[in-house]
Amino acid sequence: MKCGQVDTSGLKVHMSRKLPFKRGSLIFAPMEGVTDEAYRLTIKELYPEWDYFNTDFLRVPSQGHYSKEKYLGHIGSSVLKDNDLLSKTGYQILTTARAQTRNSVEEIKKLPIKHLDLNLGCPSKKVNSHKGGAYLLGDLIELEKILKEIRNAFDFHFSVKIRTGYKDTNNFDELLKTIQDCGVDSVTVHGRTKEQLYKGKANWSFIKRAVEVLDIPVIGNGDLWSIEDVEEMFNQTGCHSVMLGRGALKTPWFATLYKEHKDIAIGNEAYLLEVRKQQVVDYFNRLEKNYVSLFNSRESFILGRFKSFSRYMFEDFEEADAIRSKFLRANDLKEFNSLLDQI
Ligand SMILES: Cc1cc2nc3c(=O)[nH]c(=O)nc-3n(C[C@H](O)[C@H](O)[C@H](O)COP(=O)(O)O)c2cc1C
Repeated sequence: MKCGQVDTSGLKVHMSRKLPFKRGSLIFAPMEGVTDEAYRLTIKELYPEWDYFNTDFLRVPSQGHYSKEKYLGHIGSSVLKDNDLLSKTGYQILTTARAQTRNSVEEIKKLPIKHLDLNLGCPSKKVNSHKGGAYLLGDLIELEKILKEIRNAFDFHFSVKIRTGYKDTNNFDELLKTIQDCGVDSVTVHGRTKEQLYKGKANWSFIKRAVEVLDIPVIGNGDLWSIEDVEEMFNQTGCHSVMLGRGALKTPWFATLYKEHKDIAIGNEAYLLEVRKQQVVDYFNRLEKNYVSLFNSRESFILGRFKSFSRYMFEDFEEADAIRSKFLRANDLKEFNSLLDQI
């Protein structure tokens, strides 16, 4: 079957490829070093208002095979036992035209995974030098091979997560056309090129352009930090749903604020700070509990994670730099937790 000729005629195929969340959803972005099983479970337990989650990327091996346990571990066995969370979790992979994509997709299909996402935004030099991640945005021939391979192997929802281009945005429309013609079911657009990394402000006009050009749903991503930002992105772009990365890491209870307390929260800095003070302790405590119970994690691992999560967390406090550096200097979890109690 050629690219663009994917069979969508059967009702069963069509239904199984439906977007797994409704219009207006808030999606927790995939983040390497963050959104592992314990983290996703914690967020779902504490803040069930998030509509959808994603694993970070699983790199498809160039040679050889991963064990079944590796594929299972990437989403997590506790997630597979929780039907609600399972139905709200996308499984992300990162691959190249020469990697063992077909084999990996076949292994993933043995799990009850109904949504596969392809990472086309990773800016890592190493990943790009192997022609993976954002590199593929500038090489549509290689990209097409991969999209076809995955589409032909996977009958459920298949999405891609892109930036606006590799070096520049000149081929953006062509990129979108390739994605849609290859039978991809939805696309998330982060409004920056790979060259931009995280510099400047994300350009949401590319999200709007994708909404105009494509028939498939478009999820908007990039620089959503506040309720106002989310509303503005919906208004400006007409996107189907929104995805938050660093904003979600900074405010893991964002979806609760947005859905339950919007009226009081909008523009109310004092209220938002108060909520933050109340939530941080619960958040870190529950994370610690889940890292230990699910991964049997060592203290040094948990402390490392906590320090990296605390990077954005205290930005809104008056003494943000001083607070952040205290957390970063904590020698153990006891010290980290006692700093939390003083917040
Ligand atoms: C720590 C970190 C890890 C990330 N890991 C991934 C990843 O595994 N897969 C992916 O598609 N994007 C990854 N991203 C990109 C985010 O999903 C998101 O597209 C990007 O941060 C822009 O959104 P934001 O402005 O809301 O942060 C990562 C971002 C961060 C900050």
